[in-house]
Amino acid sequence: MDRCNKLVDVGRRQFLRGGASAAAGMATSVALPAQTKAAPGLALVEYPSNKLANVADLKADEPLDVSYPDENASGVLLKLGTKVEGGAGPDGDIVGLSTTCPHKRFPLDYNAEDHSFNCPGHYSRFDAEAGGQEILGQWTAEGLDELLYGRLSSVL
Ligand code: FES
Repeated sequence: MDRCNKLVDVGRRQFLRGGASAAAGMATSVALPAQTKAAPGLALVEYPSNKLANVADLKADEPLDVSYPDENASGVLLKLGTKVEGGAGPDGDIVGLSTTCPHKRFPLDYNAEDHSFNCPGHYSRFDAEAGGQEILGQWTAEGLDELLYGRLSSVL
């Protein structure tokens, strides 16, 4: 019985050692994003300036399908009806957003009731009034300032 208790103690020590290693691993992974944030400008890409539509053609809450920066990148121009940060046009209420889910590329559907884009794949939701910021789901989107999903280059 004494031998058995010694084995249990060895097992506890191993467990505690493993937990400490896991905690150290977690501390390392927490520190990495801070290092990544130190050089965010390296991934930024200059996008071309293209005429996609006339402002007069846009109606509030009716997304206009566009392709940008090329025909393989589907998106919309959307007049929200209220001024938003980063909004374009005379009223500051026009935004351009990709309609491809950044998680696994399902096409997003627009919900005019809350100005959100919703993914039928795994139910991620994105806020059109906040530059496509994720509301809920699998992915964190901060706008189109990095590579498009699945591409080595966003601009041809
Ligand atoms: Fe959109 Fe997974 S493909 S959440």
